[in-house]
Amino acid sequence: IERTLSIIKPDATRRNLTGKINAKFEEGGLRIVAQKRIRLTKEQAGQFYAVHKERPFYDELCEFMSSAPVVVQVLEGENAIARNREIMGATNPADAAPGTIRAEFAESVGENSVHGSDAPETAAQEIAFFFSGIEIVG
Ligand code: GTP
Ligand code: MG
Repeated sequence: IERTLSIIKPDATRRNLTGKINAKFEEGGLRIVAQKRIRLTKEQAGQFYAVHKERPFYDELCEFMSSAPVVVQVLEGENAIARNREIMGATNPADAAPGTIRAEFAESVGENSVHGSDAPETAAQEIAFFFSGIEIVG
């Protein structure tokens, strides 16, 4: 059993899509074992996305991620990291497979409704960034 860090991004919380997105995770076989709604500062968003510091869209990304509340969550299941990325769909909604979260809800490559960890090491780091052990209940 594996865990991954998920974020429902500001474009989605603004449009009140938290429940519809959570239904996709649950229908896809993932269990929400931790969840909270928070508002990131631009500095916190920058720290979370530090791996993208050199990318041209970094500043825009940090502005966006701090522009409204996000819902951070830990998803658990068989191959949760890969499974979640399938459920999310491609980064650019134009390339996302039908039925995926990004195909149905994302507005653009930047405002793409969800984040999901991309590997076991980053999942562990990202979960620890937002949650303490006592907040995760499997
Ligand atoms: P995450 O799950 O959010 O990490 O998405 P990803 O792994 O599918 O994409 P990646 O890690 O390459 O990029 C991280 C995030 O940066 C994306 O989800 C987008 O929100 C944003 N991003 C990526 N490419 C672009 C771009 O070309 N323009 C803008 N504005 N944002 C981008
Ligand atoms: Mg990524």
